[in-house]
Amino acid sequence: MRTHACGDVNLAHLDETVTFCGWVHRRRDHGGVIFIDLRDHTGLVQVVFNPDRAEIFELAEQVRNEFVLRIQGRVRNRPEGTINPDMSTGEIEVLGTDLEILNRAATPAFQLDDNDVSEENRLRFRYLDLRRPEMQERIRLRARVVSRLRNTLEGMGFIDIETPMLTRATPEGARDYLVPSRTHPGSFFALPQSPQLFKQLLMMGGMDRYYQIARCFRDEDLRADRQPEFSQLDIEMAFIDEDTITDSMETMMRELFKDVMDVDLGDEFPRMPYAEAMRDFGSDKPDLRIPLKLVELSDVMADVEFKVFAAPASSDDGRVAALCLPGGNSLSRKEIDGYTEFVGRYGAKGLAYIKCNDIASGRDGLQSPIVKMLPDDVLTTIIERTGAKDGDLIFFGADKTRVVEDALGALRVQLGHDRDLLTCEWAPLWVVDFPMFEYDEGGKRWQALHHPFTAPTARNIDDWQTELDKDPGQCLSRAYDLVLNGTELGGGSIRIHQQDMQQKALEVLGIDEAEANDKFGFLLNALKYGAPPHGGIAFGIDRLIMLMSGAKSIRDVMAFPKTQTASCLLTSAPSEVSDAQWRDLSLRPRIKQSAKRQESES
Ligand code: AMO
Ligand code: AMP
Repeated sequence: MRTHACGDVNLAHLDETVTFCGWVHRRRDHGGVIFIDLRDHTGLVQVVFNPDRAEIFELAEQVRNEFVLRIQGRVRNRPEGTINPDMSTGEIEVLGTDLEILNRAATPAFQLDDNDVSEENRLRFRYLDLRRPEMQERIRLRARVVSRLRNTLEGMGFIDIETPMLTRATPEGARDYLVPSRTHPGSFFALPQSPQLFKQLLMMGGMDRYYQIARCFRDEDLRADRQPEFSQLDIEMAFIDEDTITDSMETMMRELFKDVMDVDLGDEFPRMPYAEAMRDFGSDKPDLRIPLKLVELSDVMADVEFKVFAAPASSDDGRVAALCLPGGNSLSRKEIDGYTEFVGRYGAKGLAYIKCNDIASGRDGLQSPIVKMLPDDVLTTIIERTGAKDGDLIFFGADKTRVVEDALGALRVQLGHDRDLLTCEWAPLWVVDFPMFEYDEGGKRWQALHHPFTAPTARNIDDWQTELDKDPGQCLSRAYDLVLNGTELGGGSIRIHQQDMQQKALEVLGIDEAEANDKFGFLLNALKYGAPPHGGIAFGIDRLIMLMSGAKSIRDVMAFPKTQTASCLLTSAPSEVSDAQWRDLSLRPRIKQSAKRQESES
């Protein structure tokens, strides 16, 4: 149907006759001449129709935005002064000699070049949204990235293996999406939260190096970087240790960024223990582009008069920390109130601060509602430890450790962006030495920080058991996360490959032998038949593309994403099913569908 793509025509094609197909991006009538910008997946080309070909001109007059056309014409130079350097085809135009309307289009729900279209409209009319050059670029970038990743991994000896979608629950910590079984009334499949157990079983099946672009399903609260259905680059390797896997994954990422974006991610990604990340950055995924650090003050605040600081400083699970903002003196009262409200979202009850006007004048040079409640030596320590200079502002957080870290950690990132403090464009980081378990105060039990199949740090099983019996909270695991610019891009671990160790780990989580056998019997069994030491990792493909493309949300790098309430506006899924389908599945709705309809209508 066509000889060229719209965006591919340039001066080299001067005087040639070309044929394109595409959508009408814009049509302009200019004193008897009609200009049509025709768009396809490669870009735009400007076509001119003159009235001297009456029949064609008449057709061109009927054309509206998003009509689908086939146009033939002759390539010519644009007249002096009309050259558009922003377009790949900006030096030429095509004098239209033939025009065929392949399809008409109703008035589009939104203008494709309108930047303020609501996301709801974009999702409802996703096929229109996908025509926008920005979306075209992101989806194409995604395909390039996936292709590049496949090439690299296959070059490293990984093989692509598919794993089931209809399976049993996998414990990644979210709620499962369930699929009722018709043939086993009352029983359900779970859609995989990840292929975790299958990839481990593949190692036990002697596959050595596995990868898959795997779809994962998690019913959890959604955010900008979370979708109910998302893709992982899922990886598992036999006979490896942490260094083998982190080194090969680093190589893969470095080559990917170089190849696709011409970005150099640096020679060796830094590694940081989890404890250091929390202490200095208040986050297990620190954004190292921002040069601010939390400064510890708990040790000097225990005896101060200011109870807001003294109480958490003298409590085991409390913390007082500071964050010094260079040049922060210029913040207005209103801005400080704004940041106080911001940290409030993370549970902070306030945001004390000191403006450093003139440090040499001692307490008189410090402007703050709290200075009067702090003795001189404490003020000196604050200035020393934070390294504050005249003109800086020091923020304080005092509360339970978790609250201080969440609040100041988030404030640090917010300030970094608001004040333009980013020191580089890309900051990769491995976070290592995670605790194996964390205590769930609500459920009063231990939970796996990564997942229950992650191996403990102590290599000797006997040491590990002693350590575990003493205090599960002190056990570190062999897990690692890859963080890029403050986003957790991937996470993985060396797995437990001994049956008794696995059993014990499940026991700590409150899963007794009977329950373990019921839920994971197949894995525990497989561990008895010669499981190789193994480990792996999974990267969020959507998050990776989001970062590479500069998109704000992973919804912008998925062709057909779901809304924040996990529905698809395009297809109206999820939807009700017929009575016959309920019957087939031997199920009965608890809410009568008619009642539900009435409820949603009222
Ligand atoms: P984890 O649960 O850390 O590990 O997931 C790995 C990576 O998947 C991405 N991710 C998500 N992306 C979009 N939406 C979501 N709801 C979502 N949840 C997770 C993140 C995350 O780093 N089986 C283990 C991996 C392993 O141990 O090998 C796992 O799934 O980028
Ligand atoms: P108050 O004594 O409550 O008026 O607080 C004095 C200053 O301390 C104010 O600037 C508050 O924002 C701040 N503040 C109060 N509670 C905390 C807290 N838990 N952490 C940090 N600052 C706080």
